[in-house]
Amino acid sequence: MCGIVGYIGNKNAVEVGLEGLKRLEYRGYDSAGAAFFDGKKRTVRSFKSVGRVAQLEEKLAKHNSDSELAIFHTRWATHGTPTVKNAHPHTDCTSNIWLVHNGIIENYKDLKARLVARGHTVTSDTDTEILTHLIEEYFDGNLEKAVTKALKRVEGTYGLAIISRDDPHKIVAARNSSPLVIGVGEGEFMVASDASPILPHTNKVVYLNDGEVATITQKGLSLSNLKQETLIRAPEELDWAADEAQKDGFPHFTLKEIHEIPEVIANSLRGRIVMKEGLAKLGGLEGFEGQLRDVSKIIMVAMGTAYNAGLVGEYMFEEYAGITTEVENAAEFRYRKPIIDKGTLVLAISQSGETADTLAALHEAKRKGALTLGIVNTVGSTIARETDAGVYNHAGPEIGVASTKAFNSQLAVFALLTLFLGRQRQMSQVMGKRIAEELLSIPDKIRWILKQDQKIKALAKKYSKFDNFLYMGRKYNFPIAFEGALKLKELSYVHAEGYGAAEMKHGPIALINKDFPSLFIVPTDSVYEKVVSNIEEIKARKGLVIALATQGNRKIVQLADDVIFIPKTLEMLTPLLSVVPLQLFAYHVAVLRGCDVDKPRNLAKSVTVE
Ligand code: AGP
Repeated sequence: MCGIVGYIGNKNAVEVGLEGLKRLEYRGYDSAGAAFFDGKKRTVRSFKSVGRVAQLEEKLAKHNSDSELAIFHTRWATHGTPTVKNAHPHTDCTSNIWLVHNGIIENYKDLKARLVARGHTVTSDTDTEILTHLIEEYFDGNLEKAVTKALKRVEGTYGLAIISRDDPHKIVAARNSSPLVIGVGEGEFMVASDASPILPHTNKVVYLNDGEVATITQKGLSLSNLKQETLIRAPEELDWAADEAQKDGFPHFTLKEIHEIPEVIANSLRGRIVMKEGLAKLGGLEGFEGQLRDVSKIIMVAMGTAYNAGLVGEYMFEEYAGITTEVENAAEFRYRKPIIDKGTLVLAISQSGETADTLAALHEAKRKGALTLGIVNTVGSTIARETDAGVYNHAGPEIGVASTKAFNSQLAVFALLTLFLGRQRQMSQVMGKRIAEELLSIPDKIRWILKQDQKIKALAKKYSKFDNFLYMGRKYNFPIAFEGALKLKELSYVHAEGYGAAEMKHGPIALINKDFPSLFIVPTDSVYEKVVSNIEEIKARKGLVIALATQGNRKIVQLADDVIFIPKTLEMLTPLLSVVPLQLFAYHVAVLRGCDVDKPRNLAKSVTVE
């Protein structure tokens, strides 16, 4: 997620904005920039840097800027690699409009073509810059009017802060899906991605809603919608400390990021489904369609949570694309003698894009001449740069060390890749549309699950005293048993093993007693009856059972000691739902056991050593 700060008031805008930007560094970024109105020169000056905010600060320090008005940005790259050219703020052809953006403009390619055809010169690889040229088209001296007209043509998500050389002394802000908060001070106003930069100056805030535009001057704030109707909203008073504001009021980044999952899935899917034909449109694969059509075998290489995501993808590719698929622990792959022949595709999965074992496995695959793809969250990371092509997650930076939202995003990308590869092969348009429609319903189904958070917290309280767990599932939820167990281990330090439910009889059932609970992922799917019989075997041995079942299943309530429900969906998409209660369960057990949830002991966010 990018970070936005804007200031207008009687303090030095550059100093205030810079301090505010430092409070957003936690969000993760790869470049930073600023633009401020220089009253003496009657122009807007802008500075940008790749890397840390401190480097931007150095550039600004050389230009003693005493400005009433400034906007600042930290960029988490989505479209266009991390470079000064792609860093925000962006400007139009006449250097009048200056803009910072958080979000994804879905129809930027279409807008870009139209604007270039009308003579605009685009200088960066970003979707964001297109907005400045679109506003330029409508600008006739009034910034907010031009912004409002331009946004009516925009599809996608945005949080924006915009200033103009020719209509100075104001900041225009606008929101669609990417949060923006306005700070209301005494003769000073701020706009920011969350309240943390604002709280040192005022605790009076106005949260922008989707489709709203704010015009901020030193005299005050006016709100309107895209129909240019005026809106009235009184500020609310926050009693948060600054670090709570970074977590949007959540106690930990991990919980905040679990609650972000619906939006993350929506962002991973945004602009990538062609419903009419039941297709997936993946820009990162352009030019590789032919080679991908000829792929006869897929080998995935990953570690940890990313590996578990690959296991889900394996079921999807085999069932819906008909491609032989293997998932390899990257550290093992690199030391084995993997068979890579002409039709083999090697797919590296990595949130950070820097995992040493996965990178080494990728190098081994390239040495053997394989076509390589990446499913990566961090734009411009090593694995992203070294694969032939790939699909970015668009999950935003993940602060919690234990991976949650990135995993859910990986599953969504696997579903898109399954659509892409399947529709190149035997998958019908009908099936493609069915999968695409169900995929788009997943964010709301996850919102339904998140509403059970307190119920899951109560379950965690009941089971937080146990020191051992078995997690079991079959088929698409076999990997979720592993991921659920991994989450419990790494967040709460409780011993948990993931198993295929059928495996239980081949040894693990010897562990079961009243102090060794089992958690079964048992949605109503093609293997439901099999898992129910596994549950009965555990109950016969006095083992406690938590069942994760499909909403409306009454039978399971008679059988299990506790039940968590998830909405019905296509079997191949149940993992996108079933993992969420397990992430919440692990989080609450960890909190109850007093663990350092966001930074579990001994763990690193990115394992860049072997
Ligand atoms: C963090 O929750 C994971 N448990 C960790 O195993 C991670 O998935 C693994 O280190 C791979 O990281 P990557 O996705 O950045 O490559």
